[in-house]
This record gives sequence, C-alpha cells and structure tokens, in this order.
Amino acid sequence: MIGTGYVGLVTGTCFAESGNDVICVDINQAKIEGLREGKLPIFEPGLKELVLRNIENGNLSFTTDIADAVSQSRIVYLAVGTPPAADGSADLSALKSVVDTIAPHLIQDAIVVTKSTVPVGTNQWIYNRLSELLGREVDVASNPEFLKEGAAIDDFMKPDRVVVGVRSEQAGEVLNELYSPFLRTDRPFLVMSPASAEFTKYAANALLSTKISFINEMANLCERMGGDINDVRRGMGHDQRIGFAFLFPGVGYGGSCFPKDVRALASMARDHGLEPRIMDAVDEVNQKQKNVLVNKVDSHYGGQIAGKRFAVWGLAFKPRTDDIREAPALTLLNYLVEKGATAQVHDPEATGHIRAIYGNKLIYCESAMDALNGADALAINTEWKVYQNPDFDEMRTRMNDHVIFDGRNLYEPDRMSRHRFTYHSIGRPTVYSDQKISLPAN
Ligand SMILES: NC(=O)c1ccc[n+]([C@@H]2O[C@H](COP(=O)([O-])OP(=O)(O)OC[C@H]3O[C@@H](n4cnc5c(N)ncnc54)[C@H](O)[C@@H]3O)[C@@H](O)[C@H]2O)c1
Repeated sequence: MIGTGYVGLVTGTCFAESGNDVICVDINQAKIEGLREGKLPIFEPGLKELVLRNIENGNLSFTTDIADAVSQSRIVYLAVGTPPAADGSADLSALKSVVDTIAPHLIQDAIVVTKSTVPVGTNQWIYNRLSELLGREVDVASNPEFLKEGAAIDDFMKPDRVVVGVRSEQAGEVLNELYSPFLRTDRPFLVMSPASAEFTKYAANALLSTKISFINEMANLCERMGGDINDVRRGMGHDQRIGFAFLFPGVGYGGSCFPKDVRALASMARDHGLEPRIMDAVDEVNQKQKNVLVNKVDSHYGGQIAGKRFAVWGLAFKPRTDDIREAPALTLLNYLVEKGATAQVHDPEATGHIRAIYGNKLIYCESAMDALNGADALAINTEWKVYQNPDFDEMRTRMNDHVIFDGRNLYEPDRMSRHRFTYHSIGRPTVYSDQKISLPAN
C-alpha cells in the first residue's frame, strides 16, 4: 500500500484484518515511525484497535523502503494524495513519481491498482508508462474508494458496492478474491473498464456535492421567502424518488474530497472542450455557503465585532474525524481573527491541526462548556454528538450574552426561544431572546 494516509491506512489495515500480508509505505518517516510504535497519525473511530491487532499478528507492517515492499508484493496499491493544482485539476505529481519508483521493483505477475481518486485516463497513463519503463506489459487496475472519514472502517468492511476497472479478466478475479470477505452480504462487485471506474468516483462525489449545494440554496431561499427548510426537507425527503441522504443544510461541504473532486471534474470537462455548468455552480454555491455564518455574524453586529468574544464549537469539516482540509470553520476563524474578535475554540479531535495554523491567535478549550466562558456568542460549525443536547441553563450562566449562530441546525427554534437565546440557524426563521420570531420580508 503506497501512501499511508486516511485511505491507505484504512485500506491496508482492513486487507490485513481479512488475512492478507500488508506492507504500508509512506515517504513521511515520522508517520511510519509512529505507526510502528502503534501511534496513529489520524483519528478514525475503530482504526487504532485494528492496526494494533494486525501489527501484533504480524500481517501489517510499515516502512519507508518502497523498493523492498514492492519487490515482495503481488498487488501494489497506489493510495497517495491527488490534491488540487492551482487551476483546479488533480495534481498527479506524487502518483506519477511513485509509478516511476515502483517500476523496477515490480515482480513478474504484479498487479498495480490505483486507489487514489484520479482523472479519467490515468490508469491508461500508468499502463503506458510502466510498459515504456519495463519493456513489458504490467497489469494495471482501478479500484476507487468510497469510504467516508468518520465511518471509514464500517464503510470499508461493509461497502455498498466495490467498483473495479480492469484490463484483464485475471485482475478482476484477483481483486474479487481480495474483496470477497467484505462482500458476504451480497453487495455487488462491479467490474468495468478502468476509465468507467475512474469516472464513477468523480460522478458519485459530484452528485453528493450537488445535493448539498442544492439544499443550501433552498435554505437560503427559505430565509428570504419564508418557510422553514427543515419542514421543506421533511416534505421532500419522504418522496422515495428523493430521500433524505445528503439533504441537510449547513455551512457548506469541506474535506479533502468533495471540493477538489468537483473542481477536478470541471477541469476535465474543460480539457475536453465542454462547459461544466453544474459543477461550476455547485462549487460556487459552496464557496458562498462557507461564508454563511460570517454573513450572519456580520449582519447581527453591524460589522462591529472587534473586542467581542466568540465560542466556536466544531473545527473538523465533519464529525468523527480530525480532518480540517477545506473545513468551513476556517472561513469563520479567519474572519474573527481578522476583525479583532476573540475566538475560544473547541473540537473533540481537530484542535491540534487548528493550533498548527493559528498558534496563539485563538484560545483552545478542553471542553465545549469552557469555550463559552464570558462569550458574547456561540458559533457552531460541526455537528459532533457532544454539541447536540447541551445544558442550555449552564450555557446561559457561562455566557456573557446569549446569541447562537448554528451552522448545522442542531436545535429546535422553539426550545431556543424557551431558553431565551437569540438563535440564528440555516434556512429557518431567527429566534430572538425576547421571544419575537422574525417574519419573512414579504
Ligand atoms: N480521505 C478520504 O475520505 C478519501 C476517500 C476516497 C478517496 N480518497 C482519495 O484517496 C487518495 C488519498 O487520500 P488521503 O485522504 O488518504 O490522503 P492523505 O494526504 O491522507 O494521504 C496520502 C499519503 O501519501 C503519502 N505520500 C505522498 N507521496 C508519496 C510517495 N511518493 N511515496 C509514498 N507515500 C507518499 C503522504 O505522505 C500521505 O501520508 C486521494 O486521491 C483521495 O482523493 C480519499
């Protein structure tokens, strides 16, 4: 497994758990040394136990020696990052350098499998490059990953489906055997061409992102035109053609996948002379939505927030992960810092990454309640369970003023009214601490 990040570490560990011998490789020496001592570089529920057990059993090991790992491996998985380049396209430099590095060490019947999310045509490029370097054919396959951070082990162990794109029947059979322990409940193993497999990953992420931007746009319309997005969501979601998944309004999507994959798909379309109108709109709506709390704070205080004290709950881009890549919380923190407000932040897992960026510009709190001490307002970015049913009386006691900007619609407006909070949420009428409910403009 080349690349021991969120995807490589989970995939490698789950393959080890199902009885394979797995060597995880990374160029990051500190990461590998830590893993050898059982220290995980990421927070992912359930992962640590699995890693420790498989190290102990002797079927999971970690190295920076790529040549040694590849020369012992029948299947070589590529799981390095494919981050966005400045123009939005996927930056394949890490992947391409790995292909060149592994080439001389591949054993005769090795299969090179791409787990990283890569533009359509990349597997063809890998095949061509290996043929050129070695003067022989090497079997190459695509096996995109659909796991969600925060539920990665479950997703990997019980996938909705496994998608593989193969050039040879044999690669399909080897991968089917590798995945068979995870498909015992008759989940489909879908075999297609490498290009279709590569495309499937982008199309799936593009649709999920589209759903999020769609419901956010509806929420913004609700705020202007009247209506409560939560009721609208319920009214829509019970239609079986629509459903509820990914139709939660909020502060926009973040993370290492949706933003970059939407832009990469748009970039691929442009490369082919096509205008990716939906993807461009989805990205633009999301960029704006990341400012939704900033706009609400700004309009509530008439732009005067210097000297105000804010509690900020939730920094990770979603719950159950420490990942802050493209997290909407960053937009709010930048605004608060720039405008001279004090931000007292809390997150169950992501504080370390935030501290590495903001240093002493923020106040880091051990508990959610501590973050409220003396605060003029609370802003919520991430729907961690710990924020979902807090003691509102204690919150009132700790806070200096009683204003909440809820980017995840965690609380019922009626309840907030009873607790005499001014409560701003997404796509729902604002509740004021003096019990009045704002009416739509018309
Ligand atoms: N994170 C997710 O939820 C998710 C889900 C599905 C697919 N993906 C895709 O999987 C791929 C990996 O994503 P990630 O989130 O695991 O990234 P990551 O940044 O967490 O991990 C990538 C790892 O690759 C290592 N690496 C970089 N260059 C290397 C090299 N030359 N040799 C060895 N190791 C090298 C890095 O040090 C890092 O540890 C991406 O293409 C991503 O789009 C991610």
